[in-house]
Amino acid sequence: MPKIAPSMLSADFLHLERDVEMVNGCADLFHLDIMDGVFVPNISYGFPVVEAIAAKAVLPLDAHLMIVNPEKYVERFAKAGASMISFHAETAEDPESLLTQIRSYGVKAGLAFNPDWPLEKVFPYLNSCDFVLLMSVFAGFGGQKFIPETWSRLAALKSEISRQGADCLIEVDGGVSPDNAARLSASGADILVAGSAVFRSPDPASTVFQLKNA
Ligand code: DX5
Ligand code: ZN
Repeated sequence: MPKIAPSMLSADFLHLERDVEMVNGCADLFHLDIMDGVFVPNISYGFPVVEAIAAKAVLPLDAHLMIVNPEKYVERFAKAGASMISFHAETAEDPESLLTQIRSYGVKAGLAFNPDWPLEKVFPYLNSCDFVLLMSVFAGFGGQKFIPETWSRLAALKSEISRQGADCLIEVDGGVSPDNAARLSASGADILVAGSAVFRSPDPASTVFQLKNA
């Protein structure tokens, strides 16, 4: 059964506490999308919102950094309460040392990458990651359509993780819904991020249940 990580980017920020309590009651993780308007053409939210969520969350926080110079901010995200932090391979000069740095805070370290990033560039780090974040849309916005090339990339990633015997989970992010959740889980996805599918559902908690049990 996959873990479900609702993306708070799609929450109702005027009713954030209500949405945090909903996630607390039905999901496995909080997925926090941090966008800087430089690496991606969108700006999301920063520390005040992360700390507000952390104050009410009873589940681990999974911070997905879509920012340039992630090494400048990982410590602050760890202090703000993140249990998992991923940064983009596209933005890191030295992924290996940043993964090590994240782990030094007692936080799970993840390497994220967009749909056009060559998988071979990720393979050398699989043994240094607690998880990889396979983007199934281009980072920047919620509500995009799942990119079908993700299927072959997921299969290739899964088989390389097995080949290396790496202890590395796969998180899939973007366009995840009850329509593709079963196949994603059967194909090796351990964590499913879902924003619009959950928060635009008339019954978010039952959608989380559907994603989990798909
Ligand atoms: C996109 C973000 C995703 C996004 C997912 O840049 O990383 O986490 O919020 O949203 P949906 O599930 O709507 O594609
Ligand atoms: Zn994300």
